[in-house]
Amino acid sequence: MRSVNIGICGLGTVGAGVFNVLGRNTNIINARANCEIAVTQVGARRDNPSCDTSGVAVVRDIFEVAKNPAVDVVVELIGGTTVALELVMTALRHDKHVVTANKALIAAHGAEIFAEAQSRNRIVAYEAAVAGGIPIIKALREGLSANRIHWLAGIINGTTNFILSEMDSKGRDFADVLVEAQEKGYAEADPTFDVEGIDAAHKLVIMASLAFGMPLSLDGVFTDGITKLEPQDVSYARELGYAIKHLGIARQTDEGVELRVHPTLVPESCLIAGVNDVSNAVMVNADAVGTTLFYGPGAGSEPTASSVIADIVDVARTLASNPDSWVPPLGCASSALQSQKIIDIQNIETSFYIRFSALDKPGVLSNITKIMGDAGISIEAIIQKEQPAGEEYVTIIILTNVTKEKFLDEAVEHIEQLETVRGNVNFIRVEHLDQ
Ligand code: HSE
Repeated sequence: MRSVNIGICGLGTVGAGVFNVLGRNTNIINARANCEIAVTQVGARRDNPSCDTSGVAVVRDIFEVAKNPAVDVVVELIGGTTVALELVMTALRHDKHVVTANKALIAAHGAEIFAEAQSRNRIVAYEAAVAGGIPIIKALREGLSANRIHWLAGIINGTTNFILSEMDSKGRDFADVLVEAQEKGYAEADPTFDVEGIDAAHKLVIMASLAFGMPLSLDGVFTDGITKLEPQDVSYARELGYAIKHLGIARQTDEGVELRVHPTLVPESCLIAGVNDVSNAVMVNADAVGTTLFYGPGAGSEPTASSVIADIVDVARTLASNPDSWVPPLGCASSALQSQKIIDIQNIETSFYIRFSALDKPGVLSNITKIMGDAGISIEAIIQKEQPAGEEYVTIIILTNVTKEKFLDEAVEHIEQLETVRGNVNFIRVEHLDQ
């Protein structure tokens, strides 16, 4: 049996998972790859007690792995975008194929990396970069290749979904749950990437590039995290029959592409509303197939390792068959990509959940509904919560019909100026994901 030699760079949560799964499932993985996958060298700054590297050469200098003539495939699992970029480019320049789980790297530097890979006829595979263990990259690139994709919407950050689920079901505190997500190995090295939506934005642009054939770029992606979300909105949303999920949404319209990441009210009847804990799910709506849903663990050691190893198997199969005939995946052949206008968030059309405090006296609500009407916004539902004894102000919640965000902003500004309204008007976008 032919052998393909792997060099693994990085022995953190994912690196250890790759090592362990490769060791445990050696026979079936080799059979599927049609060759022997041998870990020839590991580059890591420190050992990881959760995996046994005995029998494998471990070096401290990861660039030794990228330049090692005995290594065919470099597996980049160090994360970040500076040293990781240098490592991947070094590996390509030494004619290695590359497998990476690094979404920040692909989203920010994919064009440069794929250009280098293409010029050298090397493969860069990145299934684990999006949605952990869910094979969504292969689904978009291969399984759905017959389709014109209209939109995709997903829970694509396990840490934020874990936090929101725990806040929702157990009323737990944001900070406590984040610490637990870090302990479980879900969160990024810098967890602000998770909770501020940056990690989800990286994953969204990778999926959008595949879905819409556009270049990888973070420019114009509207990004909002979950740090400003208030627990009362999670429970009010439930009372109204919605779950709040942190979604990444990419939609092809006649005017261009929407790319946005933000907390979203989703009806409880929508399957994605029931996706909890560290799970991820991506809905894809396309012309031939209709709507599909891809669901599974979005982070963690072995789920992510599952995707990394699937890429290693793909590369190994290609090398074992005809190394010169591999087809560059979309996002790799830059000449085939077409830039698209990214629609500004102000021009995006959606429904809204609005919450604010207003004096409980005659005429207040009619002023507010007039402001909404003047802005051209139709109201779907309006609820006044009973106020605690002695409290003059009540909580008002409004659900709107679909409108442009700029009209909503205009109405919010006017409502905030009313003397009868206290504090800010909070709003969250609502998506029904049904067309
Ligand atoms: N921090 C990421 C998440 C890891 O929580 O989804 C997987 O990409």
